[in-house]
Amino acid sequence: MWAKKESREKFSTGLAVFFATLGSALGLGNIWKFPYLTGENGGGAFLFVYVICILFVGIPVMVCEFYIGRKTRKNAVGAFEKLKAHPAWKIIGFMGILSAYLIMFFYSCVAGWVYLYMFKAVKGDFASITARSAEAEFGSAVIGPWSPLIWQLIVLVAVAVILIGGVKKGIERVTKTLLPVLFILILVCDIRALTLPGASQGVQFLFHVDFARLTPEVILTALGLAFFKLSLGMGTMITYGSYFTDDNNMIATPVKVAASDTMVSLLAGIAIFPTVFSFQMEPGAGPGLLFMTIPLVFSQIPLGNILLVAFFFLTSIAATTAMISLVEVPVAYFAEERGISRTGAVIFNCFLIMLIGILATLSAHKAALLGKIPVFGKTFFDLFDYTSSNILLPVGGLLIALFVGHVVRKEEFRDELSNHGTLSMDGLINFVYFLIRWVTPVLLALVFLNSIGVLNI
Ligand code: PFF
Repeated sequence: MWAKKESREKFSTGLAVFFATLGSALGLGNIWKFPYLTGENGGGAFLFVYVICILFVGIPVMVCEFYIGRKTRKNAVGAFEKLKAHPAWKIIGFMGILSAYLIMFFYSCVAGWVYLYMFKAVKGDFASITARSAEAEFGSAVIGPWSPLIWQLIVLVAVAVILIGGVKKGIERVTKTLLPVLFILILVCDIRALTLPGASQGVQFLFHVDFARLTPEVILTALGLAFFKLSLGMGTMITYGSYFTDDNNMIATPVKVAASDTMVSLLAGIAIFPTVFSFQMEPGAGPGLLFMTIPLVFSQIPLGNILLVAFFFLTSIAATTAMISLVEVPVAYFAEERGISRTGAVIFNCFLIMLIGILATLSAHKAALLGKIPVFGKTFFDLFDYTSSNILLPVGGLLIALFVGHVVRKEEFRDELSNHGTLSMDGLINFVYFLIRWVTPVLLALVFLNSIGVLNI
């Protein structure tokens, strides 16, 4: 699908559109980030706010990005030129490039852990795992310094080779076949996790809404996760929208993508929390949660080690395809707008990501080399994550919603979303437009101002 960029082709069918968009959304966000943030932020209450964010912010912003992309058939910077918008709106594209870098710095590190865990599973390292040893195993794997850095490098070399080699069509086919298998494996984990002794406490933790746990910071984190999950606020979906078919239903697609993505996250949560409680582990264990629990669940299943290898293999595929779409944002900019060859742009960007990504990898665990060095009160790892998810993506989303809701004329919006009058869904378009114009930006602004202490709700 990315190869289509140069020739500006379109996706062939509605199903291809759906799979491509879902392919960008699905990744470490569902399997790694969603469970650990839900654990750290109190379970059900966090989940409740997350779902509200998906409905009233995520889906409308995705509609906006698709609108901008399909209307202009351009990349995130060029699109605003084509719409004859004030040049200042191009800031959305530039912020997107910055977000892609910041996300990649830590994403490539965690993807390295996934590759490493696959390797360890192949070697049979988890054969006699216990709750205690799972924690120690994770620590020794990520503290490093050399091993996690080497795995991060392997990840980035793989991403670069795929981006340069143009085997993207192959990757797309592989993803389409393998992601359903990952889905089935998560279901297997779910069944085992739910039948462990004491599992109900984990289910209770995930679905019991305790509003006392909600603070402005927790709400901002849920909002940031919604953006990260659906790859929003940084122009990725503008680019995808630019490849859409003319007859795609641009309201139905975001709803279907958001629903499927949220389902995968929930299933990952259902695999992890019952295990956490059954083995008396800590739900707020942080970024290591996935890596400590999943080997434990599989150790309780016949042929568990083979399934564990498959699980990490498929997760690494999902992570790698998400990274390709992330790195594509700066690569496309350098190749199309700065006249650098595509190969040069890929090598330069992956090199840069590796260089600064070292800071993330060496600060990912509190016992690591840079794990206790605060930068603006956070470790490098957390700083990259926080700045992208909790600041740049929501601000990008706010600007995108303001642009479509207040700069674009309603008639143009209606014309594009109704596929030039072929779909009769005026009422729905009016409702979505109202959300985009008023509800989404107001919610975004409120959450934002509240979290930085300007408001005190
Ligand atoms: N949505 C991906 C995930 O949840 O893992 C991460 C991501 C991919 C974010 C692409 C942003 C993006 F442009």
